[in-house]
Amino acid sequence: MAASKSGNTKTCYIKTYGCQMNVYDSERMAEALVLSGYQQVETADDADMVILNTCHIREKAVQKVYSDIGRIRPLKKKKNDMIIAVAGCVAQAEGAEIIARAPVVDMVFGPQTFQQLPDMLDEVHALRAKGKKSRLVRTEFPAAEKFTALKSVTRAPITRSPSAFVTVQEGCDKFCTFCVVPYTRGEEVSRPTADIIAETQALVDQGVCEVTLLGQNVNAWQDRQSGLRLDGLLAQLGAITGIERLRFTTSHPRDMDDALIAAHGNNLKLMPYLHLPVQAGSDNILTAMNRKHSAAEYIELVARFRAVRPDIALSSDFIVGFPGETDADFDATMALIEHVTYAQAYSFKYSPRPGTPAAEDEAQVDEAVKTTRLHRLQALLNGQQRAFNDAQIGNILPVLFDKPSKKNGQMSGRSPYLQTVHVTMDEAIMESVRGRILPVAITAAHNNSLSGHLSDGD
Ligand code: 5AD
Ligand code: SF4
Repeated sequence: MAASKSGNTKTCYIKTYGCQMNVYDSERMAEALVLSGYQQVETADDADMVILNTCHIREKAVQKVYSDIGRIRPLKKKKNDMIIAVAGCVAQAEGAEIIARAPVVDMVFGPQTFQQLPDMLDEVHALRAKGKKSRLVRTEFPAAEKFTALKSVTRAPITRSPSAFVTVQEGCDKFCTFCVVPYTRGEEVSRPTADIIAETQALVDQGVCEVTLLGQNVNAWQDRQSGLRLDGLLAQLGAITGIERLRFTTSHPRDMDDALIAAHGNNLKLMPYLHLPVQAGSDNILTAMNRKHSAAEYIELVARFRAVRPDIALSSDFIVGFPGETDADFDATMALIEHVTYAQAYSFKYSPRPGTPAAEDEAQVDEAVKTTRLHRLQALLNGQQRAFNDAQIGNILPVLFDKPSKKNGQMSGRSPYLQTVHVTMDEAIMESVRGRILPVAITAAHNNSLSGHLSDGD
């Protein structure tokens, strides 16, 4: 056990920004630290170590990191042996620049190097013992090693959730012209099948029954040795006793194959929900974005999913105000949304990212125009989400119960379509429903959730 000067166990606070890949990476860091004797805490206030696991995808996300470092600085003044680390994609992109700009930071490491965390901690302590300030920067790219290292990480039950993420793929070779991911997360790498199955089995042994496979381009996953693709992996995972639900995210339209579409009709464990970003509905913009598909091809793909799974809930990402986007281009995005109809979606104003081709484009769109377009787009998407939720009233949905709702006397869980469902029940049975899938009669719909009561299933 690592012990602080007072003799107590050392504590670490990890703040996660951005995507689910980062959530997963933060959990692995927490586990590595627990094995090194740290205890995870909920605030930075008295922590011995603070890790900011950062996101570089939009400018706002980067600004947030620097303002958080500013907030932590006085804490380190009070507790000068505190270790501050910046991890994740900002660390990867900015490297030593972070310590130059914020000397309070002791270490900077990217998404491919966090397995070295225990060694880095030893190094910081050794430097401090010699009276030196630590300025560790680890941003090299041993991408394939990431998964080798992960193999040795045991999944400790840090939450009691029946639902867990498993990273199966990292990186991206698509080079959409707006996106930093290919530069921060590197090329596409697939994790070996045996490791994925072993990690899933370990999770099942801890009571997990729902697994979401993660990857920047998850549907590009493949086992080069056996030729297995994602549909085959999902079939193998579905055969594990105890696995009830499978999901995967995020997919690229270009990597979608017939077998994966068919799996949505024949793999009973695969949930009827698909996050399939389109970004824009105008072919001019899709070409400028280097998305490698047209609006018509995307719409055709959606139709093929609906043919095998008519109730599938669709989700997407949208960018408004990409350089050169005209009113007509934006109208094409609105028309695509009207046509497809989404159960939920994420939408953003285009944010120029240094080093990406679109940031160099001279036809940047005015900020006020972006704001107006985003509001219009979100009004349309919010309306579709509400209509999708409203359509569940009167249905009985199988809900996987996860945790108590904020409101007393309610447990919350997820429908097959990933909607949060709040269910009022007797306090006495709350603990016993956690981790179980039970039928719920849906009685009300809200913008972001549903409510209902336990049904006897008939
Ligand atoms: N500006 C705005 N949104 C972006 N995204 C990625 N890069 C940018 C950017 N430069 C969005 C895309 C992607 C999601 C994860 O973030 O919609 O799918
Ligand atoms: Fe970024 Fe495009 Fe790769 Fe997605 S597919 S991570 S948007 S480059």
